[in-house]
Amino acid sequence: MSNNLLAGKKGIIFGALDDKSIAWKVAERCVAEGAQITLTNAPVALRFGQLNELGEKLNAEVIGADATNMEDLENLFTKSTEILGGKVDFVLHSIGMSLNVRKKREYTNIKHEWMLKTFDISAMSFHRMMQVMWKLDAINDWGSILGLTYIAAQRTFPDYSEMAESKALLESYARSFGYHFGTAKKVRVNTISQSPTWTTAGSGVKGFDKFFGYADKMSPLGNASAEACADYCVSMFSDLTKMVTMQNLFHDGGFSSMGMNPAVFED
Ligand SMILES: NC(=O)c1ccc[n+]([C@@H]2O[C@H](COP(=O)([O-])OP(=O)(O)OC[C@H]3O[C@@H](n4cnc5c(N)ncnc54)[C@H](O)[C@@H]3O)[C@@H](O)[C@H]2O)c1
Repeated sequence: MSNNLLAGKKGIIFGALDDKSIAWKVAERCVAEGAQITLTNAPVALRFGQLNELGEKLNAEVIGADATNMEDLENLFTKSTEILGGKVDFVLHSIGMSLNVRKKREYTNIKHEWMLKTFDISAMSFHRMMQVMWKLDAINDWGSILGLTYIAAQRTFPDYSEMAESKALLESYARSFGYHFGTAKKVRVNTISQSPTWTTAGSGVKGFDKFFGYADKMSPLGNASAEACADYCVSMFSDLTKMVTMQNLFHDGGFSSMGMNPAVFED
């Protein structure tokens, strides 16, 4: 299904690792809606993931970039604007990684060097990316920048650990840079707060399977899938949402507005 919502638009999609990744679905939907894109991920992910496969399928160039490295990001935006034949109209930041979560450190006994690395990869990379776009003047007026986040930024979900603070920081960058981009270039910056989703990053959180079922029951519409998230991202990249900026947008089947749902207690 295509409504050509992104016809003539150019974009960069960060963070597609395999066909479960939210960014993978977003890339597919953007191209189906008429966009021309480049794809990027960390060099190590290019070796172990399946991104080249997606690039071939979508006729999209794959450019390696560690999102914590300014030179890599400058190279990515310079090359992308060359390949796409002009400035971009949209960018998706779909990056998250926590060493403390991965290595199963308790929140009360966290390694702070790893915490810094988590913030750098999962949150500061959003600022870095926007700073590079700003410096290189790489995005068109009325463009759209999106980051993916999770409700643990506002509410406590104990097993989400330091990723909660990462997401709070990420959402704050959207507001702060959203001011500058909005004022200077009418570019909007938002975050989408997505339901739990079965991906490499998502399923790495302790107790994810049980929690996925809990969130699904709590949400009147059920958990939002990665495909539904891709649809929402397309709408946010399209010209139909030009005046939405500096927002954290919940895409969670209603979870964030629930207090209690009797469905949770039913078998
Ligand atoms: N899966 C969920 O339950 C869920 C829920 C809400 C929000 N999110 C967010 O969605 C985004 C995408 O995650 P996903 O669930 O699709 O998982 P994923 O594991 O498929 O994607 C995470 C991506 O981050 C990339 N990455 C890690 N370090 C990097 C670096 N240094 N430079 C560049 N890229 C790097 C990985 O290679 C991977 O492609 C993340 O921000 C995640 O926090 C996920």
